[in-house]
Amino acid sequence: MTFSAILGTGRYLPQRVITNAELARTVDTSDEWIRSRTGIRQRYVAAENESTCDMAEQAALQAITASALAPADLDLIIVATSTPDLIYPSTACLLQKRLGIRNGGAAFDVQAVCSGFIYAASIADQFIRSGAARRALIVGADANSKILDWTDRSTCVLFGDGAGAVILGAAESPGIYVTRLHADGHYADLLQVPSGVSRPSADAHIRMHGSEVFKFAVNIMGELVGETLGVAGFDAADVDWLIPHQANERIITATARKLGLALERVIITVGEHGNTSAASIPLALDTGIRDGRIKRGELLLLEAVGGGFTWGSLLVRY
Ligand code: ACO
Repeated sequence: MTFSAILGTGRYLPQRVITNAELARTVDTSDEWIRSRTGIRQRYVAAENESTCDMAEQAALQAITASALAPADLDLIIVATSTPDLIYPSTACLLQKRLGIRNGGAAFDVQAVCSGFIYAASIADQFIRSGAARRALIVGADANSKILDWTDRSTCVLFGDGAGAVILGAAESPGIYVTRLHADGHYADLLQVPSGVSRPSADAHIRMHGSEVFKFAVNIMGELVGETLGVAGFDAADVDWLIPHQANERIITATARKLGLALERVIITVGEHGNTSAASIPLALDTGIRDGRIKRGELLLLEAVGGGFTWGSLLVRY
């Protein structure tokens, strides 16, 4: 049997940091409000001429180096993003060109907002298990700053920009045990950018009913971790690290409590990164690996919820 294993990871964060104190100079908010409600202290914001593909490229190059591969070894590229450079070609095709790959395998984008990285990893896992690909580059990248209404204090304090990348390769043992993907479009109104190509509107900014999203996220994350472990035949006690989507420290804490997992076993980067949508999980994963907390052989539970609503999880032995 063939499984998918994590070969290497990488990340990119823009240079510009915006602290809560700086935001409080332009909107009616405070460092205390933002920290106590979300755990966020600061966020990174892309430069005016810096795009999602620019960030994805840097993260991908790091992951390729960490995997001791060359770009030509990759036969699948999936970019999870809600903020693509262009309507088309996909950011994955633009990235493939930047990496100098000619006549490559499939390259496409996945749009599942904050669950995008989990969706992309699940798809790549199916490709690898079936033999359709052997080495897949998955990138979660978002330039949320470009779709924020910087005068709306209920959203602009929450989000940041960045990119995280993971290379999955075919292996004889897990690797990924299980992925779970879900969606329910009936919740579309609770979190959306209410403009698009075929239905354009003057408001192309993130709009969110925060407290409803919060309640849904806490409940569904609790259910999802139970479902994931049950399908894979593991107990909560087997999990070495929880690597959740980084939207709000209170949602993360509630999920860890449900698992009975001490907060020392949870990778939390929301304080420094804010909510980077599709980038948040691979950024957190790379952070935990590079600072030496996550070690080879450990069991990692990744989970996310995002606009749609979409939600999903991935259980993997690193
Ligand atoms: N500073 C100060 N006051 C604020 C701010 C702010 N930045 N934002 C809102 N407020 C005010 C509101 O206006 C409201 O005032 P009012 O009572 O006078 O009307 C009050 O604070 C309470 O607002 P709530 O929205 O009820 O605050 P809540 O405690 O729910 O916290 C928050 C808001 C942090 C957004 C929370 O609901 C949350 O985290 N929700 C989930 C958000 C999330 O995770 N989104 C992403 C998930 S999916 C994805 O990642 C795409």
